Amino acid sequence: MTEQQLEDLLAQMTLHEKLCQLTQGEPRKIVDKMAGVVNPDANKNNLTEEEYYALGSVISYVPKASVLRGVQQDHMAKDRNKIPLLFMSDVVHGKETVFPIPLAMGCSFNPELVRSACETAAREASASGVHTVFAPACDLARDPRWGRVMESYGEDPYLNAQMAAASVRGFQGGEDRIDEAHVSSCMKHYLGYGACFGGRDYNTSDVSEYELQNYYMRSFEGAAKAGVAMAMTSFNTLDGIPMTIHEKYLRTLREELGFGENVIISDYNSLAECENHGITGKDSELAHLALTAGLDIEMMSTKILSGTENLVRSGELSEEAVDKAVMRILRLKNRLGLFENPYRGLDETAEKNFARNPVQREKARNCALECGVLLKNEGVLPISVHEKIGLAGPFADSDEVGGEWAFAMLEPYNISLYQGLCSQMPKENITLACCDRIKRFKFNKEQIDTDIPEYGDVSTFADCDKILVAIGEHMGDSGEAASKHTISLTPNQIALVRKLRSLGKPVIAVVFAGRPMDILQISQLCDGVLYAWYLGCETGNALAELLLGRANPSGKLAMSLPANLGQIPVHYNHLPQGRQWMDYIDYTEKPLYPFGYGLSYSKFEYSNLTVDGRTVTVTVKNVSSLPGAEVVQLYIRDHFAKVSRPVKELKAFQKLWFAPGEEKTVTFTVTDKMLSYWYRGQWLWEPGTFSVFVGPDSERTLSQQCEY
Ligand code: GLC
Repeated sequence: MTEQQLEDLLAQMTLHEKLCQLTQGEPRKIVDKMAGVVNPDANKNNLTEEEYYALGSVISYVPKASVLRGVQQDHMAKDRNKIPLLFMSDVVHGKETVFPIPLAMGCSFNPELVRSACETAAREASASGVHTVFAPACDLARDPRWGRVMESYGEDPYLNAQMAAASVRGFQGGEDRIDEAHVSSCMKHYLGYGACFGGRDYNTSDVSEYELQNYYMRSFEGAAKAGVAMAMTSFNTLDGIPMTIHEKYLRTLREELGFGENVIISDYNSLAECENHGITGKDSELAHLALTAGLDIEMMSTKILSGTENLVRSGELSEEAVDKAVMRILRLKNRLGLFENPYRGLDETAEKNFARNPVQREKARNCALECGVLLKNEGVLPISVHEKIGLAGPFADSDEVGGEWAFAMLEPYNISLYQGLCSQMPKENITLACCDRIKRFKFNKEQIDTDIPEYGDVSTFADCDKILVAIGEHMGDSGEAASKHTISLTPNQIALVRKLRSLGKPVIAVVFAGRPMDILQISQLCDGVLYAWYLGCETGNALAELLLGRANPSGKLAMSLPANLGQIPVHYNHLPQGRQWMDYIDYTEKPLYPFGYGLSYSKFEYSNLTVDGRTVTVTVKNVSSLPGAEVVQLYIRDHFAKVSRPVKELKAFQKLWFAPGEEKTVTFTVTDKMLSYWYRGQWLWEPGTFSVFVGPDSERTLSQQCEY
């Protein structure tokens, strides 16, 4: 449709119908349990029949083509204005084919890999009738107690921005018109959600504008510049104001970060929850605050629907504010081609073919190969297929390895580590034992209610050459509403590793987690450590390839791994102090493993750092006999500025593949943007003394001071 046609459509709508367009519900009908209509009483919003059939959008948690086709047909038959419904869903790291969790994908340091993964997810989601996915999560994550770090791309603004932009291009296809193989994406959760006090989800965040602009906003800017179609406000407050009605920062989003006239949606019920924040419980006041701030869609509450009409009738709020929001939604539907075809993308046959599809799953496996992070290897990896391997621990043969926020699939099918190994080496060479699973924590106020098995006799591994121990946290212990007061492994797992160590065999830990965990004891007890995160549906196959050396690890930490809880927050790009004594009196402030760190089976040597004006070069050589990839990282420090600047900041990286013995000269160009920082409403670059660092991670770098 043309802009004029959209305007004409708007003109024919009543005010009440416009307000329904700004309201998101859930499909009322349960045509099929797999429809993902998780809420049988979807009309808990007490919508009238007319309101329900005038809704602008609905959420579907397990989208199924045949069901959403029926919901759309029903809607189109009954909506007076024949405006197609927008179907939205949480396809965060895969729909039918589940990719590694975003935090693991951040560790790939490969934006093209992330773009491709999101494009695959978009294709599958679109076939099931999804028009908008609630991804990427752009939250800057520094506190591993927060369960939603698993959805983020980690602690660095630059890496987050690169991955967020790649995700948007993957989901949306890079064009203004979003074709049927793609979906519109919704960046979330704007803003400062990851800075919640105590790492407790939904808790207050209090972040200076300096920090917000120089750290937290950059990923949202990256997504906005990539053309993201939607943004979701976060549950937290900033400056005591709930983000859902935060006029200042929603204006910043639109006017400074380049989001412009795209659609802003609340999080689930977050407008209604402004009452819990102590702002107001009056529908009309909430509606006024939301529409004035620039909110367009209210998810799963009806304050705008119930509280706006009187405001407009009384003249307290112009109907223009409503019209602006409606037009943004109509334009998004138009961008998706919904007016020409309300069933765009829906394809029951394609959907069925995506289930357990080997071609799709190979993409997930190849992605997973670049997301595992090798943290320690005292000559024990890779394993030979001829060696006798012990396999222990709660994740040894668990299929709960896809990661949280991956429930949109119709046929879940994750490969366990044991299954993966058995498919790539003689099964008789693997001894599986002491592998009872742990359950997720359920805090029921009186006690931690979880069933933690004790691992007993390990003598069954006595004749093994090496022992793999698969440990970590339950998949359900990360994600939303899954913050933890500790990042330690359960005692029974540490006890198991100690017992295995006592056998005098090489022990290799494979860690399954949705967050950085305290693996200090594990790293001390084990000869090898591979951080597996949750690598999606092909976890077991990918890990087997990495452990057997069929693939060479190349992952680098997207988030620092603390040595213990007490160090939190610990991130590499911190400000300097007036006094350089930063350690505790009882422990170092250095993390166990720093941002950007990750080993390979190859060995890379860095030399000859040169800074010639804006051109930085370094020589990197693969001095091993194994081909492998290395992420060459460029960091910069601004030594003197109007405000204190971080001790270093990632400004660029290149993931390069090397043949055995191959040497490369790697070149970076320093731009004004790399030298700039936000200060009091503007981006400043002040000529002066800078340092340039280049290396394999944020600590082991070659460096040179220079004047820019
Ligand atoms: C949840 C999450 C958000 C998700 C939304 C819809 O509360 O915060 O990430 O997209 O609701 O499920």
